[in-house]
Amino acid sequence: MKKILLILLSLLIFILIIGITSKFIHNSKNNEVEELHSETPIPTENTSIDEPENNEKTVEYDPSLFTDLNSILILANKSHPLPEDYEPSDLVTPNVKVNKSGLSLRKEASDAIEEMFNAAKEEGINLVLGSSYRSYSYQASLFSRYVAKDGEEKAAKYSSKPGQSEHQTGLAADISDESGENFLKQSFKDTKEGIWLKDNSYKFGYILRYPEGKEEITGYMFEPWHFRYIGKEEALKVYNSGLCFEEFYKILD
Ligand code: DAL
Ligand code: ZN
Repeated sequence: MKKILLILLSLLIFILIIGITSKFIHNSKNNEVEELHSETPIPTENTSIDEPENNEKTVEYDPSLFTDLNSILILANKSHPLPEDYEPSDLVTPNVKVNKSGLSLRKEASDAIEEMFNAAKEEGINLVLGSSYRSYSYQASLFSRYVAKDGEEKAAKYSSKPGQSEHQTGLAADISDESGENFLKQSFKDTKEGIWLKDNSYKFGYILRYPEGKEEITGYMFEPWHFRYIGKEEALKVYNSGLCFEEFYKILD
């Protein structure tokens, strides 16, 4: 009897030990799971589409930038004429291929056109400068010659009255291909030189000043040869906007 009791007691102790051990193991496993769950979640890739940042902040331009004769953004058009006696003080002769002598541009525009012509040349595009700064009096003789040929209404679509020509700013250039066959002609648009200029001139600070489709705004027919220097930063903005000068700078009066 005593032996049986001893066996039962041993069995009870054994069961108790087993029970306590298994509970301990169970608890420690749960802790492991909890630990795993409490780990910092692995960040999943954010697939939500963020609202695009509005980088196109409206830039306010000081209106004097378009009227100050020294400004690179000086505006010369049919409603914003230049004074008769205005001649830029920093005209220089650009070191580029020309189709006539005596051509000059303001220093900054001249440096930029040299850079542009050299870059074009490296791509096999040979550009020729055909017209640049024009004095008020030279523009007057040019315009009257065109009026005599085509009548004032027609002439005014492709030639400026004196004071109204951007060429008087010393910041405009008429550019040709080497053959000269397409100079001042709409056909320049389809030449490799015309295409290169349309696509690349902004990198050098020049914009196509009288684009196709903007005739009502600029007041002039499409001139694929006429480029206006406004500086690289502004030219990039105008180019990207797809707008013409008057539209981009909101000077539509
Ligand atoms: N051909 C441009 C409009 C000018 O005469 O200035
Ligand atoms: Zn021109």
